[in-house]
Amino acid sequence: MTTHSLLILPGDGIGPEVMTEVRKVIDWFQTNKGIQFDVSEDLVGGAAYDKHGVPLADETMAKAQEVDAVLLGAVGGPAYDNLDFSVKPERGLLRLRKEMDLFANLRPAQCFDALADFSSLKREIVAGLDILIVRELTSGVYFGEPRGIHSDDNNPQNEGGRVGINTQRYTSGEIRRVARAAFELAKKRGNRVCSMEKANVMESGILWREEVQWVHDNEYPEVELSHMYADNGAMQLVRRPNQFDVIVTDNLFGDILSDAAAMLTGSLGMLPSASLGAPMANGRPKAMYEPVHGSAPDIAGQGKANPIACILSFAMALRYSYDLGAEADLLEAAVEKVLADGVRTGDLMGPEGGTPVTTSQMGDKIVEALSAL
Ligand code: IPM
Ligand code: MG
Repeated sequence: MTTHSLLILPGDGIGPEVMTEVRKVIDWFQTNKGIQFDVSEDLVGGAAYDKHGVPLADETMAKAQEVDAVLLGAVGGPAYDNLDFSVKPERGLLRLRKEMDLFANLRPAQCFDALADFSSLKREIVAGLDILIVRELTSGVYFGEPRGIHSDDNNPQNEGGRVGINTQRYTSGEIRRVARAAFELAKKRGNRVCSMEKANVMESGILWREEVQWVHDNEYPEVELSHMYADNGAMQLVRRPNQFDVIVTDNLFGDILSDAAAMLTGSLGMLPSASLGAPMANGRPKAMYEPVHGSAPDIAGQGKANPIACILSFAMALRYSYDLGAEADLLEAAVEKVLADGVRTGDLMGPEGGTPVTTSQMGDKIVEALSAL
């Protein structure tokens, strides 16, 4: 019997609360479907800093490299705002992404029918929305060298005398591998990829466009490919989001565009993500899963957080890391059922009402729905 290993990193803010609800789901699959999970738990972000003085201990990094999948809650909070840049909670997350080489970040933006009225856009524009943003996650301006804040003393024209530098750098290989991931995913969906960059002002954008086109022409001619400048892409996303199927873009544009896409769906508390790397010995990709929402320190510890994004992130782990597609479908159906029944955490509570629930009650309802389906 296979045992699926999972490293849980709850992190900061609402991370631990939503993770408690995922544990209920994991227990349900173990008890009712006989699926064996080997779950371990460790610290990341501010929680790791408090204990180790760093946002990710080396032992935790090593563990993350060994398991079938990592599930992360969220990192950061006001208590850590003034820490030195090198030990900020976010650095723990970036280290995991970089050292596990998780180059393809999948951010689905799906509008659940029961929630279409929560979107900041009109229902008719977002109803049925189902797009997938594939964000490059291990390169670009997040990691490019040179970087830093330096003095600019020999430039008397510069008031303040400092310069801040980050570098947008992409190799053709980095672009090709994330493009392949996007084309592969598109083949299982609507067969369309839109690539976004700023080829009108950036050389790295020209390279991006040429390399995505190259992968298309040589390896995926059957997939429909279009290109868009990222600013126009942002505008099109809020104008007519349904025109997109898969969007592939770089690390920084992907960060921004995926937040915009998230808002279209009505609740950030609903959106999962998967970050995938190269295949491991078992043939499945190295992987980390996380909700798109942050640590939400303003509501942490109050039982208000919506655990659905984290639960759906575990569903993505079932699908991509454990090859349990039917179980992933079941879990997603359970979430849809609970929403259709009007069960609502505060972020989902609208004028039409519903049954208000706490974080923990939402987890219980989803488990009940699993048993009922
Ligand atoms: C995200 C977040 C991170 C990012 C932060 C927390 C470092 O905004 O995952 O989108 O910028 O990548
Ligand atoms: Mg972001």
